[in-house]
Amino acid sequence: MSEKVFVFDTTLRDGEQAAGTRLGRREKMNIARQLARLRVDVIEAGYPNSSPEDFEAVQQIGQEIEGPAICALSRAVPADIEACGRALAKARRPRIHTGIGVSDIHVRGKFGDDKYGRTMAEKKAKLVEMARHAVTLARTFADDVEFYAEDSGRADPAYLFEMITAAIDAGATVVNIPDTTGYSVPEQYGALIRSLKENVPNIERATISVHCHNDLGLAVANSLAGLKAGARQVEGTINGIGERAGNAALEEVVMGLRTRGDYWGLHTDLDTREFYRTSRMVAESLGMIVPPNKAVIGANAFSHSSGIHVDGFLKDRETYEIMLPEHVGLAQSRVVLTARTGRAGLRDRLEKLGHALSHEELDRTYERFLKVADKKQEVFDEDLAAILADELHSVPETYKLEYLQFFSGTSAIPTASIRLRVGDVVKDGAAVGDGPVDAAYKALLVVVGRSVRLARYDIRAVTSGTEAIGEVTVVLETEGRRVTGRGASTDVVEASVKAYIDGLNKLAGL
Ligand code: KIV
Ligand code: ZN
Repeated sequence: MSEKVFVFDTTLRDGEQAAGTRLGRREKMNIARQLARLRVDVIEAGYPNSSPEDFEAVQQIGQEIEGPAICALSRAVPADIEACGRALAKARRPRIHTGIGVSDIHVRGKFGDDKYGRTMAEKKAKLVEMARHAVTLARTFADDVEFYAEDSGRADPAYLFEMITAAIDAGATVVNIPDTTGYSVPEQYGALIRSLKENVPNIERATISVHCHNDLGLAVANSLAGLKAGARQVEGTINGIGERAGNAALEEVVMGLRTRGDYWGLHTDLDTREFYRTSRMVAESLGMIVPPNKAVIGANAFSHSSGIHVDGFLKDRETYEIMLPEHVGLAQSRVVLTARTGRAGLRDRLEKLGHALSHEELDRTYERFLKVADKKQEVFDEDLAAILADELHSVPETYKLEYLQFFSGTSAIPTASIRLRVGDVVKDGAAVGDGPVDAAYKALLVVVGRSVRLARYDIRAVTSGTEAIGEVTVVLETEGRRVTGRGASTDVVEASVKAYIDGLNKLAGL
């Protein structure tokens, strides 16, 4: 039987602590609404005693958001806890999250003042007392109180057991065992969680929560190890944002549980189809970029590019995909056309675009495609349309471009030289003009040796970015005849020359 794992989202608290980030109230509300749509169990909305803005954000989220429990953070000091109590007064399901440091490093460093005791033993005893009081006070404001033992990952286990026993005794409903500095490794963290079950006599009265930081890139692995060992709440943030290297990325933990339910035997109640939308909203609100290779929700997470992979994927999706993109809110997987794409990938895309090509046409198009792909990171559908128009609908090549060189600049006279093959003969021409395109067109006329009027010239970028394909359409007129020529290239001068030559070839065929 699969057991439920509760999901505690701290994007708005620990996540917002990421260096250089700050969310406005409206953005926090939008994210909180989206987290409710994602159906997380708990939203940690902020730390009310840290600033009036945080207080108001927690208050408003508590008043407006229905569904998840709304949680507020505090240290184990009365002023913090009272601020949480006030901020959450109107929340439907309030939770106060209070706690204190438990590792020797924290005890010594943060509680060095003699008022906490002179020896380590005295300080440790004092901190247990503070924890008891904090939980007891928090319970006067909320029935749901979570206690965190900060830096559990580096704590002396015996002291951690003593602290957790006291917190549960005082009324904590959830006990959070943070690996605050991301120091643990999965086996060790899993063993720590298991040891709580064996050494904390009242542990059955509380839910164990895992809260892992990513300093060594192990936050997700540690969280999963903790869940396997018996924790039933996981804490983390969307996109894994947070202090230093961040927190456990919730989308990764949850999809890990879902995809490998056979191994973990655990599930969550999240609507995972909301992950993609949530991830983008959080990234945009914080002005952050989701890395393309980010697991689960990165732009490339469901993209296939190399020839072998695309071929396998097109035959059977499962050869290279372990999750369905729809399950995380993406419409479909993507085959990305790049210089590594094979013929099968190109043919498949062309067929989807409605072009059934003969073998020979596909060969020609593929060669041309590779040339474009060499210049661009990704070849888009619009690029393909331009390539097809250029390759397949061309007329016999009376004039064939062999060579084009142009020169221009802010203080240079635009000059172009061109070499065309006309049958067996090679002809050269050069000219100056008002710009590189004008110079190239004049050079073309020198080579062709006939008078042709350029009646129209249009250029458009068919894809976006500085390396986009430019498509040029020209209308040429001579002796009462009128033709349209088209050319495409990532170089606009080359596209212009190709369009002109296409027009010349059409005129030659009339
Ligand atoms: O990492 C941590 O220890 C925390 C606690 C305040 C819960 O974020
Ligand atoms: Zn944390």
